[in-house]
Amino acid sequence: MDHAPFDLAITGGIIVTPEGRFAGDIGIRGEVIAAIAAPGALGAAHETLDAAGLHIMPGAIDVHVHFRDPGMSHKEDWDTGTAAAAMGGVTTVFEMPNTFPPTSTPEMLADKFERAKSARIDFGLYGLLAEDNIDQLEGLIAGGAAAFKCFMGNTTGNLPSPSTGAMLEGFEIIAKHGHRISLHAETASIMAWRQRKLMAADRNAPLDHLAARPAIVAIEAVIRAAVLAEWTGARIHVLHISSADELRPLREAQLRGVDITGETCPCYLMLDSEDYARLGPVIKVNPPVREPHHKEAIWQALLDGTIGLIATDHAPHAPEEKTRANIWQADAGFPGVETQMPLMLTAVSEGKLSLEHYVRISAENPAKAFGLYPVKGAIRVGSHADLALVDLAREDRIDQAKLASLRSRITPFHGKHIKGLPIHTISRGEYVMKDRALVAESFGHGRSVHTVQHMAKPEPRHAEQTMAAVLR
Ligand code: DOR
Ligand code: ZN
Repeated sequence: MDHAPFDLAITGGIIVTPEGRFAGDIGIRGEVIAAIAAPGALGAAHETLDAAGLHIMPGAIDVHVHFRDPGMSHKEDWDTGTAAAAMGGVTTVFEMPNTFPPTSTPEMLADKFERAKSARIDFGLYGLLAEDNIDQLEGLIAGGAAAFKCFMGNTTGNLPSPSTGAMLEGFEIIAKHGHRISLHAETASIMAWRQRKLMAADRNAPLDHLAARPAIVAIEAVIRAAVLAEWTGARIHVLHISSADELRPLREAQLRGVDITGETCPCYLMLDSEDYARLGPVIKVNPPVREPHHKEAIWQALLDGTIGLIATDHAPHAPEEKTRANIWQADAGFPGVETQMPLMLTAVSEGKLSLEHYVRISAENPAKAFGLYPVKGAIRVGSHADLALVDLAREDRIDQAKLASLRSRITPFHGKHIKGLPIHTISRGEYVMKDRALVAESFGHGRSVHTVQHMAKPEPRHAEQTMAAVLR
């Protein structure tokens, strides 16, 4: 038994896991949790944090953020994006490839690793799966891509959606390695058709964006992706679930044994079509916020486990890009990585979900789905000391003027009253936020998670019929 003092002891707090909560002290050595002890039983430490009154949770793992560098760093970059994450109790992010140019080759991935050197918290980089880069997928995996993103529908960056043929071969290749493929599951051709007709009829109000993207676009895309995953054995993840209707194909695929996970974001749980008049183009997001009954069904699916993850689709844009009067010209999305935890803790305070369930959807399930568990997403001896210490009683109001995403200080949640705030964020044993202030030394502390990622290889299916096998 090693009796050296701990580097940091966290004492007097309540530890929260998906299974329950208990009073306990945490001893950290270096980057990992070295001991979990009954209150007062930990032993000596170089530094002690008094966590009385705080709940200690694994830091949130947000598998869906856009940090915009290269190409759109007037909206966000790795410094400001990960500062926002640290302020929001988030200790790992997975960053999307619709930068400019997109992360579609090993060279672009290497370029993004360079840019991510300023990260304050840990990160995974998404590689793109598109029509024209199928021969780059193996190289992206070798280069350290933590997951893949496939845009079945258009959004910021206007990346063309791949044909079903290209998707199938992409799934075949990625399936061999076990990396998860996250889907923007909206069918592009339906949306383009409808948007053209709406524009021709001079319809350009915020609600017309919703009219261009009815839930059938998500149903069709989820079904198509699920059958490709079922055929190939690929693991997939449905991003930003926005509708009641796509839940049925999601559940059906899960019941058939497809390795398919789903996420939703606070806007689909807390906003609905009645908010368009009040918020105007600021509410524009892809997929759109829908009619009120969708919100209720998504809550239900989050509670029953059909939707296993909460993420944010953190999509920063400059305020002037978000407020153009013609809805087709306004940019889609808004920052979210900093506000997810306070918003969801507020929902906890309202009795909409338990704190334990929140830990499951914000940390444990994302870690499991993306191969990080139990190195991350757990408060366990040996796990990374990635922690969010929250005050459930602390009340505040979301103020967009104070967001750490300096160039995109605009959110539909501006002014919302919240109850529950992260007070300290610890990433691999180091403070990145302390007493609600960003820690300057956190600049550059973040590391790619691909080195600790473990994706068990799935059973290959129809291996003899893959494009590679047929051409061999
Ligand atoms: O509204 C959105 N904005 N949805 C997405 O899927 C992408 C995002 C962005 O990159 O701006
Ligand atoms: Zn996104």
